[in-house]
This record gives sequence, structure tokens and C-alpha cells, in this order.
Amino acid sequence: MNVLIIGSGGREHAIAWKVAQSPRLSKLYIAPGNPGTLTCGENVSLDTSDHAAVVRFCKDKQIDLVIVGPEIPLAAGLVDSLSESGIHCFGPKQAAAQIEASKVFSKDFMRRHHIPTARYATFTQLDDAIRYLESVDYPIVIKASGLAAGKGVILPETFEEAKSTLEYILIDKTFGNAGSEVVIEERLSGQEVSLMAFTDGTMIVPMLPAQDHKRLLDDDKGPNTGGMGAYAPAPAFTTEMMNEALETVLKPAINGMRMEGNPFVGVLYAGLILTENGLSVLEFNARFGDPETQVVLPLLKTDLLDIAEACANGTLANVNIKWKKGTAVCVVLAGKGYPEKVESGKSVKLKSLPQNMVCFHAGTKQDGTNVITSGGRVLGLTAWASDISETIEKVYANIDKISFDGMQYRKDIANRALDGEK
Ligand code: AMP
Ligand code: GLY
Repeated sequence: MNVLIIGSGGREHAIAWKVAQSPRLSKLYIAPGNPGTLTCGENVSLDTSDHAAVVRFCKDKQIDLVIVGPEIPLAAGLVDSLSESGIHCFGPKQAAAQIEASKVFSKDFMRRHHIPTARYATFTQLDDAIRYLESVDYPIVIKASGLAAGKGVILPETFEEAKSTLEYILIDKTFGNAGSEVVIEERLSGQEVSLMAFTDGTMIVPMLPAQDHKRLLDDDKGPNTGGMGAYAPAPAFTTEMMNEALETVLKPAINGMRMEGNPFVGVLYAGLILTENGLSVLEFNARFGDPETQVVLPLLKTDLLDIAEACANGTLANVNIKWKKGTAVCVVLAGKGYPEKVESGKSVKLKSLPQNMVCFHAGTKQDGTNVITSGGRVLGLTAWASDISETIEKVYANIDKISFDGMQYRKDIANRALDGEK
């Protein structure tokens, strides 16, 4: 198979790394890719917002399957353009990607299909939103409805803070059009679990549950980030919870999308919170999570191309998806200043790693024969081993194989899982 992967982050390096292991692979392209994906296939500088150019590339290179990593091309309808030209894709069409791209759509969809989620209301007008704020007697969360690169969710502590948040989203348009509508929802508490699942639109198969660490500093302190590390499987997520999620979240979501005429193909990511009253959905994403993918794919035994092709063809029921025993841990190595202003252009040194480890590239770029930093989250160092304590030890014992100026990382990734270890 000739395969094209769209994207350039740690998630796409993890996908490319897994696809490159497939005996069915003839040629792998990654657009635009990064210095890490260069070890898996050929990076191509395609403008992925130019759908006609992507279609031309696929025809020219006889691409059998396109795997779309990030949400932006999905929300822009890249899969629709490719499908219209007869090119097979692993990823949802634009209408189905709304489950992530519009939080208003997503919340209303959950309400229609009785999927457990926090109480909420949606607003386009500041006055109405403020009146609602005055009427609720519980802590709330404010969310810009559209895609805001992970920055559109605010947890205000006071009424005044909530009011100014609404003003800067709805009036100052800090998130542009993504903030023309807001969701105000009840704040829930509990452990969060990322549950991703493969789906062909009818059949849905969950992956191993993962947990990520959103705060910058140890002990969940400091500002929110795109994710400072992850581990899988998450021991906090029991078999009973998995069954509950399958019956109350994943199946109703996939059936609901299909019944509404928008079958969802690809990876459905449910961001779950385990509350005292059972599990609840914080958000859906229409793609693999990052950094969760960096710990889930190393544990996948089955050929990812078999799965992705079956999803695209509607034959997922014929694939037996298997997982390795053991656990995986990923520690994100971020640049100085992340998540605010990051210094880039620092030279990255990478020494070779032992077996069952891989360093996924996220914010790096090639500079002649050197690799330099080019983003906040620079690398994701992943290890897998038989149990969680061994895996944590392994990943931290090898951090010194990597260095760049200003490198920062959390020292407590996956410690939470130790408490849950049997
Ligand atoms: P979202 O993008 O909607 O998942 O929100 C990002 C993060 O904000 C989540 O991972 C949670 O940590 C937090 N969050 C979102 N919604 C809620 C909620 N209703 N209650 C508590 N925390 C939330
Ligand atoms: N790790 C959260 C996400 O991928 O959206």
C-alpha cells in the first residue's frame, strides 16, 4: 500500500512509526512531517489546506490510503475532497468532524442521544450569557464553541472572572469566529481518562484507555498545556467502566452520527471524567489524541494499516484488534518558556535509545544536518515495559540521552498510575 499521513506533530510521528512496521506498506509519505517522520518515510511539502493539490498528489503517487492526523484539515473537509475523487481516507468527513469542531453541535448531539455530559447552555449574546451566569448556583466552565488550539476552555473562579471571559470571547473575539458562540457548562470533578476508539461508522472498537498530564509542573501545578506526558493503560479505568463507556458513550455516539446521516469514520476520542455519579463526556475529538497516541500505538499489536483500511472500507468487524501486555509512558520534553513564549532554534542532541523506546518528534525541524527546536513541545520520549513502575524507571533513566538548551519536563509522569497498580 502507498500511504499518505497528514500532519507534523508527535501524534503523526507515532502514526508513521507504526505504519512503517506494516509488511503491507510499499511507500509512506508524510505531509509535511518532521525530522522524526523522516526515519519512517518521505516528507513532502504539500499545502494541506489546498485540497486540489492533495488530491493531485494522491493520484500522482497512487496513494491507497490517507490518514489525517490533526483536526484542522478534518474540519476543513479534506476527507470530503479526497473521497469525492475516490481516494480512501482514515478520518471523518467535515459534517462528522463537527463532533469536535463545534462544541455546541457536540453538546446538543450528546443531549439528543442521552450521552452523559455536564449540564449546559449555549449563547451567542453576552447579555443572555450573563443572565444565565446569574441564575446558576454551581461552579462553571466556559468554552468557545469552535476550534481554538486547546485554549478555548476557561475555568473561571469568580462571577467577575466569568463575565470578563465571556466579554473577551464574545465581544473582543479573542478566538475569532471560534468564539462567536459559547458553551457554559457545569464544572465536574474526578479523574480524566482519554478513551480513543477505532470506528468504520457502524462498528466501534475501543483502544487502551490513557491518561495525560495537562499542567506544566509536577503535582499538577502551573498553567495548562497541550499535554506534558501520558501513560496507558490507565488503571483507574476499570473493565466495568470500559463497558459502561462502550454502552453509554461510544455506541450511542457512533449510532447517533450514522442515524443523523453523518457516519463517523476514523478515531473517535472521548475525553471522559470519572465523577462520583458515573462517567461523563467532557469532549469528543475527531482524531487521535496527542500525546495519548504516543503511548497507545506502541502497545498495539495489530497492523495499523489493516485497521485503518478496514475503517475506510466499512469492514472493521473482520479485524481482530490485539494489544500487547504491559504499559507505556511518554514524557514530553518542552522548550524554555512553554506554554507561553518559547525559544526555538536550539540544537537537539539525540543519543541512541535501548529497545522498546522511541523518541517521537513534535516541535523539531531539520537545519542542514542538525535537528533544531521549532515548537513548544519538542519531543515525546516513550518507553514500554511489563509494568508501570518499570516503565517509569526506564523512561526517566534515558532522559539524559536527549538534550537541548532550556529543556524542561515533568518528573512525575504516570506516578498517578502507581497508586492504581495491583
Ligand atoms: P475540553 O477541551 O472540553 O475537554 O476541555 C479541556 C479541559 O478542560 C478538560 O480536559 C478538563 O480538564 C477541563 N474541563 C472541560 N470541561 C470541564 C467540566 N465540565 N468540568 C471540569 N473540567 C472541565
Ligand atoms: N491530549 C488531548 C488532545 O489530543 O486533544
